[in-house]
Amino acid sequence: MGVIIKTENLSKTYAGKIKALDSLNIEINEGEVYGLLGPNGAGKSTTINLLTTRITPTAGTAIVNGFDIRRHSMDVRKSIGVVPQDLTTDEDLTGYENLMMVARFYDVPKNDADERIAKLLKLVDLEEAAGRYVKQYSGGMRKRLELIIGLVHDPKILFLDEPTLGLDVQTRTQMWEYVREIQKNLNVTIILTSHYLEEVDALANRISIIDHGKILITGTPEELKSSLKGDIVQMTFKSQEDAEVMKQFPEATEARDFGPNIVRVTVRNSDEVLPSLIKYVSDKKLTIMRMTVQKPSLDEVFLQYTGRDIRQEDAGDVRKMMMNMRRMRR
Ligand SMILES: Nc1ncnc2c1ncn2[C@@H]1O[C@H](COP(=O)(O)OP(=O)(O)OP(=O)(O)O)[C@@H](O)[C@H]1O
Ligand SMILES: [Mg+2]
Repeated sequence: MGVIIKTENLSKTYAGKIKALDSLNIEINEGEVYGLLGPNGAGKSTTINLLTTRITPTAGTAIVNGFDIRRHSMDVRKSIGVVPQDLTTDEDLTGYENLMMVARFYDVPKNDADERIAKLLKLVDLEEAAGRYVKQYSGGMRKRLELIIGLVHDPKILFLDEPTLGLDVQTRTQMWEYVREIQKNLNVTIILTSHYLEEVDALANRISIIDHGKILITGTPEELKSSLKGDIVQMTFKSQEDAEVMKQFPEATEARDFGPNIVRVTVRNSDEVLPSLIKYVSDKKLTIMRMTVQKPSLDEVFLQYTGRDIRQEDAGDVRKMMMNMRRMRR
């Protein structure tokens, strides 16, 4: 199993602004499902757009399926399939016609195309719906069609940029199943980006957390979780003085401020340490307002490495959306 994507100090600065991607160095192995996880503006789409040759780097380069993205972009394009975030299928065509159009675009011979399309439709349970207009599809069906559109020309690598954004929970988990089926049956390397921690946890065998154009950590989901060195106890106190005292808790492997009067303490095993932690709070006469205990999850990993909760980013999205709506009304 060789390296199929290798980036070498891959960097992108948009029109004199701050670096959207800052010296990215990653290696992706053939057959992997590789997840890029990060908040808004982290540089995920920039990475995908560079690797798929939609934009050019300002420094560094990448080798994709043996081809340099700077010098051999056409070869790169033939090696890859892309499922962008926005819907790209034509509503006024049938599912089958959409697939055939892509086959023609890539010069796939008619017989091969027929065989390939039949296989893909079967993989995502769209055989029955293939002859219907896409405008008659449900949201989930349309996403499934988008998923196989990128696979008609039999690429070695499939890029999925936020494949389930905006889908309801049930449809999302259904999509995961289809992504798994595709990976299993088509022998394709998959690179996906996501806001959803559950998604990369469920699908990816390796993950990079990216923020401000830099990789913060890379590893298997298990490695990332175990890098946290224990469980996290978050406590809100009545005063910063109390919070300072809590930070001195002897059994903490790590303790740090996490906002006004809020402390996060890492302990090896919360089940064992909790009684002595509570005794400490009572002995020192600290006034505690709120306390939560979290076993390691990817949410925690994200928080640990970016210093913020990924859900705050979702709140940011809503704010952005409301601002845009207000602007539109003017
Ligand atoms: N065409 C562009 N021109 C100027 N700046 C851009 C452009 N595209 C992206 N940026 C900036 O580059 C940074 C990285 O953006 P990018 O779209 O790669 O982030 P992302 O991780 O995909 O975010 P999201 O989760 O919101 O999709 C951001 O600061 C963004 O504002
Ligand atoms: Mg993006």
